[in-house]
Amino acid sequence: MSTSHKIAVLPGDGIGPEIMEQAVKVLKAFEQKFGASFELTSAPIGGAGIDSDGVPLPEGTLKLAQESDAVLMGSVGDFKYDNLDPKIRPEQGLLQIRKALGLYANLRPVKGYKCLEHVSTLKPEVVTGIDVMVVRELTGGIYFGQPRAREGSGKDEKAFDTLVYSQPEIERIARVGFEMALSRRKQLVSVDKANVLASSQLWRDVVNAVAKDYPQVEVSHMYVDNAAMQLILNPKQFDVILTENMFGDILSDEASMLTGSLGMLPSASLGEKKANGKRNALYEPSHGSAPQFAGQNKVNPVAQILSLALMLEYSFGYKQEAAQIDQAIEQVLNEGYRTFDIMGEGATLVGTAELGDRIAAALLKLPSAVSV
Ligand code: IPM
Ligand code: MG
Repeated sequence: MSTSHKIAVLPGDGIGPEIMEQAVKVLKAFEQKFGASFELTSAPIGGAGIDSDGVPLPEGTLKLAQESDAVLMGSVGDFKYDNLDPKIRPEQGLLQIRKALGLYANLRPVKGYKCLEHVSTLKPEVVTGIDVMVVRELTGGIYFGQPRAREGSGKDEKAFDTLVYSQPEIERIARVGFEMALSRRKQLVSVDKANVLASSQLWRDVVNAVAKDYPQVEVSHMYVDNAAMQLILNPKQFDVILTENMFGDILSDEASMLTGSLGMLPSASLGEKKANGKRNALYEPSHGSAPQFAGQNKVNPVAQILSLALMLEYSFGYKQEAAQIDQAIEQVLNEGYRTFDIMGEGATLVGTAELGDRIAAALLKLPSAVSV
């Protein structure tokens, strides 16, 4: 059986286009293997949008995203836009599309690969078997709060941002966190700064209220500074980490290092379920656009390929099939092929394109126990 699905492909800037190319290769292999069929349409975002349309989120790109079943994104940002007005910096394209599509739930799975445990800067016994899901609120908090401004000049200059959360905003992300915990090891740690921040005090109260609907889930609360420390001290204690936008941004970069490289960490950003059962969704690596490496066929495409796998699972229901992408990645890493960020003794250094080719080829060769 073949089904058509519409995917908006937004490669973005820096290393975005070259890692996206690898994800598309793997998607082609997936189509061939499982007889599925996807309609891909590319559009500019971030710096690419500024170059083509003068804005980081061109209207046509947003329209395409709204009309697609899922968005597969690369990354945004480049040094050459550093001096632009902050309102039209490339990062705004990402923040605007998250907001416009209502993508409030950001899922960042942090899973260790056995063959990479020596790559992490932490001791192997600390990171072996790590499997954490960071559930980050993505459309609220200090990223979007008003008022925000820079005012005055010289010694009178000041700047401020607003960290604001409403009850419904906390409740809906808390529910995502608890549902996620239910489908996993049933432990949820909610991270806040309730000893200092009013927004965190509300966060904690709402999480406790929602917890009553999930008696099977063991819930605890941790201050964000302690959570940052515990992630390094004993990361295996975590199953689901539920947290607000900025804490999630920081903790997910930290957590990625447990896997050895930020280049291994995918993400899914989901909106509310609509009446037709569908939800807006955008899939992107958790890392940035690394412009210093752009165009060098050097960086790790795994986070982008894993983001593709998350898309196939969450937006299109190909759970078992997508798991074969993970298997293909693991196989290629086990065979010793590595990009520079995850290199180790005795491994073979390969470029972005070769790693992508090898993962696509490995996927095709895996015995296909499932078909669609
Ligand atoms: C991320 C990134 C973004 C964020 C930037 C590029 C705006 O760091 O997705 O984690 O802060 O959310
Ligand atoms: Mg970040």
